Amino acid sequence: MLNFAMETARDAGHILLEKFGGTLKVSKKGDINLVTEADLASEAFIIEKINTHFPRHSVLAEESGASVQSGDIEWKWIIDPLDGTTNYAHGYPCFCVTLAIEHKGELVIGVTYDPTRDEMFAAEKHHGASLNSKPVKVSSTEALSESMLVTGFPYDLSRKRILADTFESFLFKSRAVRRDGSAAIDLAYVACGRFDGFWEEGLNPWDVAAGVLMINEAGGRASSYSGDDVDIYKPPFCASNGLIHAEMLGILQTV
Ligand code: IPD
Ligand code: CA
Ligand code: CA
Repeated sequence: MLNFAMETARDAGHILLEKFGGTLKVSKKGDINLVTEADLASEAFIIEKINTHFPRHSVLAEESGASVQSGDIEWKWIIDPLDGTTNYAHGYPCFCVTLAIEHKGELVIGVTYDPTRDEMFAAEKHHGASLNSKPVKVSSTEALSESMLVTGFPYDLSRKRILADTFESFLFKSRAVRRDGSAAIDLAYVACGRFDGFWEEGLNPWDVAAGVLMINEAGGRASSYSGDDVDIYKPPFCASNGLIHAEMLGILQTV
């Protein structure tokens, strides 16, 4: 099933790449929340492929409404057909396809494919995480002051004062903070050690499912801001190499 998930993400990624930079139909789901024809084409392709190969599996996909579930509820695919839509719509090459599979409520497979760099991040429960088939692990940075972090901002900016305060705190206490615009890529980068930590509120299960499994399999930690075990259905999320987690939670709990 991991190979099937990787192949599906790769093919969907190529659909995104073919349309990237061209004239796109773009509509708004909210004031600053876009959806393009590429999101829809990628999702239709992925769901069709899953339905053909695993007709009884359930599907939870971003653009088909909150949840489309039928058949076998033991297996659930969680799909973001294009993570980084704002980047994509502006021609900024940082976006991906991200898929995960839950079996009986437990994440067992996660795949994030970045077609612009041909990078396939993957994880299987108890079998580790990989980048282009080579095993990866989280960074060994021990102190927040030496860390490079990444975050994102939700489309609902009603809490923007608090979001800005949190950002400022991390800016002063870390070596660097980035905001790349694709939570799935952010998390994959934590799993392979390019970033040391990540935080964001307001995310959905399809943004984080694959990345959470990758980080766990790569030796890191993902949790709520209060430090509870991560639940992909309950934002906000903090993820890290594990070593700087307590320091990150300290900031998230005090801002
Ligand atoms: C968004 C991206 C972004 C994050 C937003 C997400 P989308 O997903 O992951 O990095 O900051 O909160 O909604 O809309 O591009 O699939
Ligand atoms: Ca997303
Ligand atoms: Ca999306």
